[in-house]
Amino acid sequence: MPKLIVVTRDGEEREIDGEAGLSVMEVIRDAGVDELLALCGGCCSCATCHVHVDPAFADTLPALGPDEDDLLDSTSDRDATSRLSCQLPFGAAQDGMRVRIAAED
Ligand code: FES
Repeated sequence: MPKLIVVTRDGEEREIDGEAGLSVMEVIRDAGVDELLALCGGCCSCATCHVHVDPAFADTLPALGPDEDDLLDSTSDRDATSRLSCQLPFGAAQDGMRVRIAAED
């Protein structure tokens, strides 16, 4: 199983065996990391699944969509590594990817 490394807001690092085919948000949620609220359930309308992604994996991910871009603009912790984790596929290409949960808005 590919691994996802999640850094929580208090700096704790967790290595999760993720199921390929899920979204990064689903992998994090299914592992019980409850500080990633993902309130809209993955339909790209809440921005509570905001993470910062290791730039080394940026090329393995789909380009930022316009809705995702707009929602990220509404967050206070946006930077060049910001993504909405519900919009990110998880699979073999993301094995070892590190994501940090963004600050709460
Ligand atoms: S879960 Fe709501 S935008 Fe990702």
